Amino acid sequence: SLSFQPFVCPLTPGMWNLSWFTVFLATVLLAQREALAQIRYVTPEEVREGTVVGNVAKDFGLDVASLTDRRFRVVSGGSDAIFEVNQSNGALYVDNKIDREELCPGSGTCLIELKILVENPLEIHYVVVEITDVNDHSPSFPEKHQTFEIAEHTLPGKRFQLHTARDPDAGINSIRTYTLTANEHFDLNIRQSEEGKIPILVLKKSLDREQRNKHMLLVTAVDGGKPPRSATLNVSIIVLDSNDNRPIFSQEVYEMSVKENIPVGTSVFRMNATDHDEGINGEVEYNLGKTLSPQVYNIFELDKLTGEIVIKGLVDYEENDRYELQIEASDKGTPPLSGECRLVIKIIDVNDNSPEIDVTSLSNTVSENSKPGTVVSLLSVKDKDSGVNGKIISSIINDVPFELKPSYKENTYSIITKGLLDREKVSHYEIIIKATDCGEPPLSAFKTVSIHVADVNDNSPHFDINPLRFYLEENNIAGKSIFSVSATDNDINDNAVIAYHLVRDGSQKDITSFLNINSENGEISALKSFDFEAVKTFQFQVVATDSGTPSLSSNVTVHVFILDQNDNAPVILYPVSSNGSAEGVQEIPRNVHAGHLVTKVRAYDADIGYNGWLLFSLQEVSDHSLFGLDRYTGQIRTLRSFTETDEAEHKLLILVKDNGNVSLSATATVMVKVVEPKEAFAASDVQSAAKDDEDSDVTFYLMITLGAVSLLFVISIIVLIAMQCSKSTDYTSKYLQEPNYDGTLCHSIQYRSGDKRYMLVGPRMSIGSTIVPGSHANTLVLPDRRRTSEEVRHAGHVNFLLIINC
Ligand SMILES: *[C@@H]1O[C@H](CO)[C@@H](O)[C@H](O)[C@H]1NC(C)=O
Ligand SMILES: *[C@@H]1O[C@H](CO)[C@@H](O)[C@H](O)[C@H]1NC(C)=O
Ligand SMILES: *[C@@H]1O[C@H](CO)[C@@H](O)[C@H](O)[C@H]1NC(C)=O
Repeated sequence: SLSFQPFVCPLTPGMWNLSWFTVFLATVLLAQREALAQIRYVTPEEVREGTVVGNVAKDFGLDVASLTDRRFRVVSGGSDAIFEVNQSNGALYVDNKIDREELCPGSGTCLIELKILVENPLEIHYVVVEITDVNDHSPSFPEKHQTFEIAEHTLPGKRFQLHTARDPDAGINSIRTYTLTANEHFDLNIRQSEEGKIPILVLKKSLDREQRNKHMLLVTAVDGGKPPRSATLNVSIIVLDSNDNRPIFSQEVYEMSVKENIPVGTSVFRMNATDHDEGINGEVEYNLGKTLSPQVYNIFELDKLTGEIVIKGLVDYEENDRYELQIEASDKGTPPLSGECRLVIKIIDVNDNSPEIDVTSLSNTVSENSKPGTVVSLLSVKDKDSGVNGKIISSIINDVPFELKPSYKENTYSIITKGLLDREKVSHYEIIIKATDCGEPPLSAFKTVSIHVADVNDNSPHFDINPLRFYLEENNIAGKSIFSVSATDNDINDNAVIAYHLVRDGSQKDITSFLNINSENGEISALKSFDFEAVKTFQFQVVATDSGTPSLSSNVTVHVFILDQNDNAPVILYPVSSNGSAEGVQEIPRNVHAGHLVTKVRAYDADIGYNGWLLFSLQEVSDHSLFGLDRYTGQIRTLRSFTETDEAEHKLLILVKDNGNVSLSATATVMVKVVEPKEAFAASDVQSAAKDDEDSDVTFYLMITLGAVSLLFVISIIVLIAMQCSKSTDYTSKYLQEPNYDGTLCHSIQYRSGDKRYMLVGPRMSIGSTIVPGSHANTLVLPDRRRTSEEVRHAGHVNFLLIINC
């Protein structure tokens, strides 16, 4: 009957559910096996308080209807607080929280023994309550995070033990498995050990730090409860770097261009290589290749650390227009890895070079008779720059008769003459050549070429004045130089060395036979002394010849005018005694009145002008009151009537003096005899006879004079007409000479002083007037021959009139 009793379940049918039913079945089976041993109940942990585990009253076989007297008491060590017995119906119910993990730590079956006392009468029953596990605990990891440092390139298969999770639940509710988030590098391996399951991380594929330097994995521990509970573990994988990457440039070849003359210190480029490694494995250092030309090292500097390329020296396009730099980048790993690239730097030309002019002179002289187009010099220009910076335009910039003629070769020119040259005008040229390039801004160069013009004998000697006039005083010293001629020649050197000679016609009368010329200096000397009274003027020609080849010559006509000197003393013409001395006897009647012409002293002087102008004076006279002498005419007249007391014979000493600077003189003695009128008659007979002679003489003279006057008139008319026609009549060569000069007649002369012409009028002054030598008081200024014809005509009249009056 006992084995049956458990079937008499006091629980209401509503309390039943499927799980409890299974538990119940198991309990029944277990109870049947241990039949009379104990009453055993099963209850899961963590059930609600009040949950009935079993009816002890029924199981103890007590009459449920008469339970009012009976009292139940649960007695159990420590666990009495958990279960309690309903006094009214004997149901054992849960009175407190049941935690299996607390009551029976570990994973075995958890049984709790209860001693239940029933009073009236007192009975002791033993009950075992089995507490079954409920999945009330999640698995847990001792730490939430786990970190591994794994070197990249670690070989696959390497294992890493993970933290193991714990789950206090037992049995099926304990940890069932571990899972890992999906990833390509790791797998999870679970090892079964006595302690439980141990998760192990297995490297499936090598890591690459450069791809991913950190991996985050999630490991989940799952228990077998329903529903299952889980816990997670964050696993960090830090990938450690290894120097597996070389520095890499983005391009194999870089190209850039830089202007030449870029200032030193300018940064032109920055190399950049990347190394994906980290730390010193990724620290890049740059270096220039070791095989470059030394020049490159002098011009460019590469900063080891920054990779900056800085200009260090002079960049000259003309030296090199392209540089290729090999650049190496290496990291600091062990061993270091390196990468390379090339940097091509093209230099851009800048107009930094002036053109250069190179003159190849053939000779720096050019003959003045060179034809236009004669090459004087060769010229080449060059410019180190290229392109338009090196294109040159050349020209002559000053005004010279030269031009540049381009040659068939580029930048080569010849300097040629543009026109005719004349050394006598310009003997030296400075040709300034300018060469300009076409750069921006353009640069220029200048060159001066000095050209001398060589002389050619193209100029004849030249006399400044032609014809030449010389005035020479007579009585020059024979053999002495009298004057010189001089010619100039515009050429130089031999072409200008002049030799002089006289043109001689070879005849006996040729005046040049008396002349000599110094062929070198043109000094002319006279071999004889000239006499004005014999020769007044002469002319000859001098030829000047230069020493050129062929020589050139020219001539000059020299007119020589001999100047008078007072070298002739007056000569008394009357009175002259039979023995030739200048004395004579004059008889006059005593009864003559005052003013009676006693006689006239006539004298002659071969000189002219002042030198031939005679003045008369009484040197000695016995009675001054009786005779007077006209100082100009030489007429001796009585000053008063004779008286009885006057002597019968008077002696007059008359001095005749010319007006030369150093005057010359002559004396004449006149004896005046005073005779009685009778005697005078007798004498006058003689005289009249003489007078007849004189009269006939006078008549003769009158006729001549009239003839002369007529002739002069006609001549004057002719001269007048001639002068009208040609004004070039030369007065200077003509001294007016009187046809009937007797020394006492007035004479007029024309002479020249400087550019003025003078006519000297002699004895037209009144008696008693004085003449001052050298003064112009009695001179008539003649008009210059260039004056109007009217004036000239007037001058002609003057000539004429003067002569008539005299
Ligand atoms: C002097 O020169 C003229 C021309 O100027 C020339 O006709 C003449 O023949 C020359 N006389 C001499 C002697 O050379
Ligand atoms: C000329 O005769 C005069 C006298 O009649 C005399 O005094 C004089 O000395 C003579 N002269 C000469 C040169 O004989
Ligand atoms: C006269 O001649 C002297 C020397 O011979 C000279 O010094 C003087 O100037 C001259 N006088 C005149 C007026 O010509």
